[in-house]
Amino acid sequence: MSAGSAFYITTPIFYVNDVPHIGHAYTEVAADVLARWHRQAGDDTWFLTGTDEHGQKILRTATANGVTPKEWADKLVAEAWQPLLQTIDISNDDFIRTTDERHEVNVQLFLQRLYDAGYIYTGEYEGYYCVGCEEYKQQSDLVDGTGQYEGQLVCAIHSKPVELLKERNYFFRMSDFTQRLLDLYEERPEFVQPESVRNEIISFVRRGLTDLSISRQTFDWGIKVPWDESHVVYVWFDALLNYATAAGYGSDDEKFARLWPATHIVGKDIARFHAVIWPAMLMAAGLEVPKQVYGHGWLLVGGEKMSKSKLTGIAPEQITDTFGSDAFRYYFMRAISFGQDGSFSWEDLSARYQAELANGFGNLASRVVAMVTRYFDGVVPTAVESAVTDAELAIRATERRVTAAADEAIERLAVHEALTRIWELVDELNGYITTQEPWGLAKDPANADRLATVLSTALRGLGTLAVLLSPVVPEAAAKLWTALAGVGTVQEQSIRSAYDWRGGERVQPLEALFPRIEVDAS
Ligand code: MSP
Repeated sequence: MSAGSAFYITTPIFYVNDVPHIGHAYTEVAADVLARWHRQAGDDTWFLTGTDEHGQKILRTATANGVTPKEWADKLVAEAWQPLLQTIDISNDDFIRTTDERHEVNVQLFLQRLYDAGYIYTGEYEGYYCVGCEEYKQQSDLVDGTGQYEGQLVCAIHSKPVELLKERNYFFRMSDFTQRLLDLYEERPEFVQPESVRNEIISFVRRGLTDLSISRQTFDWGIKVPWDESHVVYVWFDALLNYATAAGYGSDDEKFARLWPATHIVGKDIARFHAVIWPAMLMAAGLEVPKQVYGHGWLLVGGEKMSKSKLTGIAPEQITDTFGSDAFRYYFMRAISFGQDGSFSWEDLSARYQAELANGFGNLASRVVAMVTRYFDGVVPTAVESAVTDAELAIRATERRVTAAADEAIERLAVHEALTRIWELVDELNGYITTQEPWGLAKDPANADRLATVLSTALRGLGTLAVLLSPVVPEAAAKLWTALAGVGTVQEQSIRSAYDWRGGERVQPLEALFPRIEVDAS
């Protein structure tokens, strides 16, 4: 992708029936890292997140708590979902709620267009519905319940009983799009990724699509169907449209033309909605399909998807209160291969914090800045070309190599790989300091040129790291950039030329980027 192109990235919009856990935060961080990277690459970046507030699930939770669904949603958004963004340092450009007027009005507009174009008809539906998924289930999606649900069919994702519904609803002619979708997956293999999710989607669509029930009549917490107000729009049909309504669909054509199509980061559990229903809806409306749907893996607890409904959810603050938001972001992006499932463990988090962030990166930064302060009175040294050896050339080459490699990995959404490549520079710089022993060079004035060259190389290497790591650990990168006397803010630095030194004259004191933490193992 060339610098300056549009990069519109989204997270799923989250159900407000409950508070966030680290699985939700994981999606947010991944999308945020990609957004920050693209901003630093000079792309016209726009990052959207938000909340999904209609449907039976929210209605039932609100009723059980004795409030209206809107009151419930307002409370959860204000007290839990928006604060989450601060907790994990999310740089979203917009936050859409499906109860926003800008959304509701344009969902109606979209639906009316599909109706006028003949893609909607009335029909009868009978099937099993999972309120947790807000989805009609096929027999093959169900499993036998255990424990209190023994003898009942339960949803394979939520392990809770499904409900048999029979309703007269409006239907979207989704089956018309079976072949066009298969052609899309074939012609644009990058459309759904990773490969495992793509294969699953293709085999699902190959079995043939049925039409989709897109309205409900038995409750009223939703957007009214414009031509028949006794129905509300099916919550997924409503929710998927957030990506268009927030980007100006129906309200700001210029903005929509500039931003659309989007890259959607979603959990693999909801890839089907995004890679099948959503593009079919867009095709019916004559709009471009998304640029990409990426279905990442799950955070597992005890081998199962972490979830609040199974009481396995861990609140993000449980981690950030001790380790900070940077460590949270780093850990999940580094420890889990993006696209695959991963298990969270306190031991692993703590070990990586200590080894990689505190010792590997933080310590390197503190030592180099302290040596420049001590040996050069804080004045940033310049390399003396006649004193440059292969060791310095190797570091300079690594800076360029990892910058290009990390950018290429990000292009494939392989965030973990980008971090692995950047860490090659952390490790190499640590090795370089150990071998060059600047503290030894400082003992003899005859080595002045070598000392200046070594510390200049190390300092510039740290500058490269600050720029490359800023999307992942923004707080630490900003502190480091200030300590290095970097020009402007670190976020303004072009990531694709991270190795170009743009530092000032004097280093500033640097507090420990990742202070030692006493972890209570109990
Ligand atoms: N509201 C729908 C999405 C509508 S998008 C038009 C929804 N919401 S959700 O709150 O249940 O989950 C949203 C997303 O949270 C999942 O797709 C996934 O990205 C993330 N995760 C929820 N639990 C997770 C894990 N245990 N692990 C990783 N991600 C998880 O579905």
